[in-house]
Amino acid sequence: MPHIVTIAALKGGAGKTTVATTLAASLHAAGHRVLVVDADPQGTALRWAAVAAEAGRAEGVPPVVAMTAAALRTDVARVGAAYDVVVVDGPPRLGAEQRAALLVAHLALLPVVPGGADVWALADTLAVLDEARALRPDLKAAIVANRVDARTAFGRALRAALAELPVATLKASLGQRVAFAEALTAGAGVVTYARGSTAAKEAAALVREVLKVLGA
Ligand SMILES: Nc1ncnc2c1ncn2[C@@H]1O[C@H](COP(=O)(O)OP(=O)(O)OP(=O)(O)O)[C@@H](O)[C@H]1O
Ligand SMILES: [Mg+2]
Repeated sequence: MPHIVTIAALKGGAGKTTVATTLAASLHAAGHRVLVVDADPQGTALRWAAVAAEAGRAEGVPPVVAMTAAALRTDVARVGAAYDVVVVDGPPRLGAEQRAALLVAHLALLPVVPGGADVWALADTLAVLDEARALRPDLKAAIVANRVDARTAFGRALRAALAELPVATLKASLGQRVAFAEALTAGAGVVTYARGSTAAKEAAALVREVLKVLGA
């Protein structure tokens, strides 16, 4: 049975695909068998893998497949059976894919970027998480701070704001770094795109903490 990690946020641009591809590419580079499931009809994770293939670097990223809500519910365990970890990149709005992606997960990671409106929007995501947990009480969840910039007041205030919420925030966070944006566009993970960078170190810390939460 693979560990299934769903990246969920109802707000667009919170960093779902960045966290999904960063986590998956780092696990892949570390030798874990990883499958990415793109549950977002926008298909950004699929594009990420396609760019890697076009550039002749397909082996640098894990395989990515698209799944509808129905396929997630019925097939994800079977499709993911040959993998250690399945990372599901969720859609930015409430719907069948969002619900299915949470219902099949062992761990939900909820990215949030600094800013009042973004932290408020997290309440909607937490409400959907609560619905999923009513059916799946064993579903673990953690917030991931993304695009953190310690030079801004918003960046500094984020942890305090998140500490008020009923779901714990991971210690690991991703900073506001161009390497994350460039790696996504280049069809790579920061672990190879920007080896040894602060972004790569943040990715490694995220992987360590996620594996610990999963008990993997
Ligand atoms: N830590 C970061 N540093 C720099 N840029 C980032 C970071 N996280 C995300 N971005 C950029 O912000 C934009 C939105 O990120 P991303 O696509 O990961 O969000 P998303 O939640 O998947 O969005 P959508 O809801 O559209 O699927 C992208 O252009 C991405 O490159
Ligand atoms: Mg996305």
